Amino acid sequence: MKAIKLFCMMAAAMLVACAPKNEGAVQEKSFMDLARARFAVREYSQQPVEQAKIDSILEAGRLAPTAKNIQPQHVYVLQSEEAIAKINELTRCAYHAPVVFLVCYDTTLVWTKDGENSGNMDCSIVGTQMMLEATELGLGTCWVKWFDAAEVAAAFELPANHKPAFIMPCGYAAEGVQPHANHFSRKPLSETVTYK
Ligand SMILES: Cc1cc2nc3c(=O)[nH]c(=O)nc-3n(C[C@H](O)[C@H](O)[C@H](O)COP(=O)(O)O)c2cc1C
Repeated sequence: MKAIKLFCMMAAAMLVACAPKNEGAVQEKSFMDLARARFAVREYSQQPVEQAKIDSILEAGRLAPTAKNIQPQHVYVLQSEEAIAKINELTRCAYHAPVVFLVCYDTTLVWTKDGENSGNMDCSIVGTQMMLEATELGLGTCWVKWFDAAEVAAAFELPANHKPAFIMPCGYAAEGVQPHANHFSRKPLSETVTYK
C-alpha cells in the first residue's frame, strides 16, 4: 500500500514538473519579436497610460548601462494637461500623446573623452530600453528630435545642467494606426556591416 502511495506521489510530481509552464498565461515576447513589433506611432488614443506601466518603462530605463555607470540621465514625465499642451506648442512631433518622456542628461555628470561627452549615447540606451518595454506593455512610442532643446528647457524651467536629448511620446496607438512605409525599409546587412 505504502509503495502504491509513493508511486502515485512520484507520478504527480513528474506531471507537475513536465506541465507547460505558461499554460493559460500571456506568452512573453522574445527580444526579436519585440524589436520587430515596435514601430513609430504618430497618432494616439487619449486612453490614459496606467501608472504601473509608466513605472515599468522608467525602470527599464534605469537598468540601462551608461558610461562609467555615471547614470547622467534625468527623465521628465510630461502628463499634466498644462505640460502636454506646452510640449505640443513647442513641437509638432509630440503627436498629442497622453504621456511624453523628456529625456535629458546632466551636463555636469557626463563622461567626456576626446572632446565628446557620453550624454546622448547614455540617454539613447536609456530611451531604447524604455521604448522596448513600452512595446512589451502594448504601448506605442516615437523617438523625437524635432524640437528646440533650449526652448524646451526654458519652457519647462529645467535646471541649467539638464540638457534635453530627445522626447518620446507614449500612449495607446489610435485605432487602426499602421507603421509608416519607412518602417519596412531597412538596408541589407551587406550594406551596413563589414567583417575584417
Ligand atoms: C534619433 C531619431 C530621431 C527621430 N526624430 C523624429 C522626429 O523628430 N519626428 C518623428 O516623427 N520621428 C522621428 N524619429 C522616428 C524615425 O523617423 C523612425 O524611427 C524611422 O523612420 C523608422 O521607422 P520605425 O520607427 O517605424 O521603424 C526619430 C528617430 C530617431 C532614431
